[in-house]
Amino acid sequence: MTTLVTGGAGFVGANLCERLIADGETVIALDNLVTGRASNLAALESNPAFTLITHDLNEELPELPRLDRIYHCASPASPPEYQKFPIETLLVNAEGTRRLLDRAVEDGARFLFTSTSEVYGDPLDHPQREDYRGHVSSTGPRSMYDESKRYAEALITAYAGRYGIETRIVRIFNTYGPHMAPHDGRVVSNFIVQAIKGEPLTMYGTGQQTRSFQYVDDLIEGMVRLMNSSYSGPVNIGNPNEFTMLELATKVLAKTGSQSEIEFLPLPVDDPNRRRPDITLAKTLLGWEPRVSLDEGLTKTIAYYRSQVLGEVAAG
Ligand SMILES: NC(=O)c1ccc[n+]([C@@H]2O[C@H](COP(=O)([O-])OP(=O)(O)OC[C@H]3O[C@@H](n4cnc5c(N)ncnc54)[C@H](O)[C@@H]3O)[C@@H](O)[C@H]2O)c1
Repeated sequence: MTTLVTGGAGFVGANLCERLIADGETVIALDNLVTGRASNLAALESNPAFTLITHDLNEELPELPRLDRIYHCASPASPPEYQKFPIETLLVNAEGTRRLLDRAVEDGARFLFTSTSEVYGDPLDHPQREDYRGHVSSTGPRSMYDESKRYAEALITAYAGRYGIETRIVRIFNTYGPHMAPHDGRVVSNFIVQAIKGEPLTMYGTGQQTRSFQYVDDLIEGMVRLMNSSYSGPVNIGNPNEFTMLELATKVLAKTGSQSEIEFLPLPVDDPNRRRPDITLAKTLLGWEPRVSLDEGLTKTIAYYRSQVLGEVAAG
């Protein structure tokens, strides 16, 4: 089985490459390193079943062998990153997806797209089921991400209809864990890195807004099961346990033993107040549900960031 993982040097991609190699697949990671790091793949570097190709998906695809499967994980995913690269983000989800779909048609490959809970915008329905159509701004500060993911879902549906290829769409809810860049800008990595460095934890708004946090191993298990399934509609993969940002900050401070204070800043425009997946479909279709608690996941993630941040300090 030859599998292409776009965005393979990023957070989700690197965890996925490790899993697929462990499962015995031949894996090609394709990444332009805009937000990813080749060091995320250091453990796979010498494995003959693994190759990293540095390439921008916003250009024509490089030479590749015949593919059996494609996981499309290339896209900036943290708000500061996709806002820094708005056009690139729109294009990699639109044109990049189209290129990969053409390739899937050519090779008869099965294609999985990493969509997002952001397709639901600032949701009016709770929890969000896959048939909820969302409450999204097409011109707001998150639009380059939300709308390009929505477009990609529509494009995939059209390709599956016209060419009969096998497609999968996973709507990922907030996920955290090892291989997420320390300066990625998402809340779990922010809090942990700030706590380890003894800097104030940046809290937007009152901290009463909630999120449901999923540990990355649970996400990867859900993605692999979805790829192996025969279901082509979108499927939520996330952890439905909801925590307020203040609860998260308190846990991080307790687990790191940090004396950092919490600094309150205004809530960014369009920041969703609540988001929580309804995972009935994933449970029924895939027999999947999250297994790792926030406490367990934070402990593993803090250990990872300690090594990253201390490595950084040692390197000066
Ligand atoms: N992590 C989450 O909580 C989450 C939530 C919802 C959706 N997702 C989706 O999962 C996927 C992976 O996200 P992540 O958290 O790993 O983000 P990430 O930024 O860590 O990884 C994305 C990777 O894609 C690469 N990339 C971006 N544009 C590219 C291009 N034009 N050509 C080649 N490579 C490119 C980056 O260099 C990076 O390695 C994304 O599609 C994202 O939208 C993630």
